Amino acid sequence: MATTDSTKIAESLVETKSHQHIQHMFDEVAPTYDLLNHVLSMGTDFYWRWRARQKAKSLLNHIEPKVLDVATGTGDLALEMTKLRGASVTGLDLSPEMLVIAKKKCPDLEFRQGKAESLPFDDQTFNLVTAGFGVRNFENLSKGMQEFYRVLKPGGAAIILEPMVPRQAIIKSLYMFYFKSVLPKLAKLFTKSSFAYDYLPRSVEAFPQCERFLPYLTQAGFNKAEFYPMTFETAIMYVAVK
Ligand SMILES: C[S@@+](CC[C@H](N)C(=O)[O-])C[C@H]1O[C@@H](n2cnc3c(N)ncnc32)[C@H](O)[C@@H]1O
Repeated sequence: MATTDSTKIAESLVETKSHQHIQHMFDEVAPTYDLLNHVLSMGTDFYWRWRARQKAKSLLNHIEPKVLDVATGTGDLALEMTKLRGASVTGLDLSPEMLVIAKKKCPDLEFRQGKAESLPFDDQTFNLVTAGFGVRNFENLSKGMQEFYRVLKPGGAAIILEPMVPRQAIIKSLYMFYFKSVLPKLAKLFTKSSFAYDYLPRSVEAFPQCERFLPYLTQAGFNKAEFYPMTFETAIMYVAVK
């Protein structure tokens, strides 16, 4: 696909974000996703997942975690949560090709194909719902957050990781240069599809971050919602308690 074509599609995808398009994009990128993810984040994604597990550990306070990892992709955050003592973890994703890789990496975990906006689980099934770098892609963000709330038990928590656009001007300009000029070119070394990585910077910029994201959590019913910027504000962790 020519860059201009893929850029146009990426632009329209940020606006439309239909399940079908998102699924297609991640199915296409699945074979190289892990490598790209680690290279493009310069390995900091391991640290961000570790931070999510530390937060989960302190929130759950010795309760045996029953975890749902939504937008699990190739399963890295689900795998991280298995390190919580006594955890049982289920992963859910739109993309069957991402799930094929997740299943190879974590054969003992249960993975389901499905949509965040209509989770195939009963009310109050889990005490932890996680989502790593996925909610930005949801077709309907409000509905997704309502579903997170619905499947959590009272006292349960949602932990969401997302990329962040740094707020400090100098760091922001360096970051945007990397994101818009370097990252798509780097991505092309690994995959023929630069499409996903044209989409990536646009979707990060368009997504409500920090205080602007919290109403999605509180309007879904969560009574406490906070955020924690990480690594020079290049990533952010949202935490909400039911
Ligand atoms: C950037 S990947 C993140 C994968 C993994 N969580 C990680 O931390 O590397 C985003 C994932 O979200 C999934 N996704 C996007 N929209 C979704 C939705 N509405 N319901 C379920 N999964 C969705 C995609 O299929 C993709 O696998």
